[in-house]
Amino acid sequence: MDANDMGNALEKVLISEEELDQRLSELAAQIDRDYPEGDLLLVGVLKGAAPAMVDLSRKIHRPVEMDWMAVSSYGAGTKSSGVVRILKDLDADVHGRNVLIVEDIIDSGLTLHWLRENLLNRGAKSVSILAVLRKPDAAKVAVDANYVGFDIPNEFVIGYGLDFAEDYRHLPFVGTLARHVYEVEGE
Ligand code: XMP
Ligand code: MG
Repeated sequence: MDANDMGNALEKVLISEEELDQRLSELAAQIDRDYPEGDLLLVGVLKGAAPAMVDLSRKIHRPVEMDWMAVSSYGAGTKSSGVVRILKDLDADVHGRNVLIVEDIIDSGLTLHWLRENLLNRGAKSVSILAVLRKPDAAKVAVDANYVGFDIPNEFVIGYGLDFAEDYRHLPFVGTLARHVYEVEGE
């Protein structure tokens, strides 16, 4: 799916496919430098981080193990509830391991703040965070992310893993939706 397929549902492209690709290459190179040797477990947060996890991992030039978690901090709406639930847990035991969480976006920061603590409590040796996007103006708790793709304004965004009512995850870019889409499909 691309911008042409969206018709008037797309308000604007915020970050293009090329910009995402370029930035993920830079972050992967940084990860290669930061983890020159030893163990590294990538933990992708479903569903939003799926495209980034796949694209990033193929740009990393060292061994990595990949695992997935699904957590819920949102209902069907567009506001964080602050309550985090594990919907699908890791297969891997993180005890003693170097973990890099790969996430789509830091909005309030509540999800990643909780997730980092959760993995440290399980005995992870280190827990770093990569977020493709971050909304600095939406922060409710500080999350010290090690790798951030782009800081964006405090607007609801879709694409590159991010959805509205489960649609638009398969867009190769990050964009915003036209207001009429929320008004029809939203509450
Ligand atoms: P918090 O607030 O805990 O949120 O940092 C993290 C999770 O909330 C979702 N999220 C969004 N999803 N467009 C989306 O499609 C957005 O603008 C947006 N902001 C937050 C997302 O799942 C993220 O993992
Ligand atoms: Mg998410």
